[in-house]
Amino acid sequence: MSPRVRTAVLISGRGSNMRALIEAARAPEFSAEIVLVLSDISAAPGLVLARELGVAAEAVDFRAHPGKPAFEAALDARLSAGTVEIVCLAGFMRVLSPAFVDRWRGRILNIHPSLLPGLRGLNTHERALALGLAEHGCTVHLVTAELDAGPILAQARVPVFAGDDAGALAARVLREEHRIYPQALDDFARSSRAEAESHPR
Ligand code: GRF
Repeated sequence: MSPRVRTAVLISGRGSNMRALIEAARAPEFSAEIVLVLSDISAAPGLVLARELGVAAEAVDFRAHPGKPAFEAALDARLSAGTVEIVCLAGFMRVLSPAFVDRWRGRILNIHPSLLPGLRGLNTHERALALGLAEHGCTVHLVTAELDAGPILAQARVPVFAGDDAGALAARVLREEHRIYPQALDDFARSSRAEAESHPR
């Protein structure tokens, strides 16, 4: 059997998407292995959850570094030490620099709670309601230097109901996030592996 693609998950908070990725990757036929969880915030509840789920989890605390270049160098060093091949952002609340994105080009995935290219950035559920959208959803995409603008790998749509508040809408979208992110990672890792096997270095 081909080796599974070594994958790290970067979080800043509760880590429900991280949990979905870790649980999906337990299936023997899943093409990625979650080897490491990192957080830019030491107190992120997702770090505790990752360890409970049996995955190595560490903080690379942003505030413990003198600036973004030093923070990203530490992140990069930790990922490289873990021989990580794919990075999944899952509620990771820092914008990565173009230099970091370039170094990991084509190997960073993100889940965003809107139907991109609509509603890039923050507070997507509030904005979907304020705009009176009939449909909302989530997107898995490759990360490029431009925020929330990289190639789309998967999307799921949900209806917006009259009477929804941001919390109800977020919960409806989150259920879909937990479904499409593992699926998109599995597909992406499988095609990356096939690509690597057809062009051995
Ligand atoms: C999710 O809504 C995700 O789309 C966004 O941040 C949230 C993270 O939630 N990028 P969780 O930490 O995965 O529960």
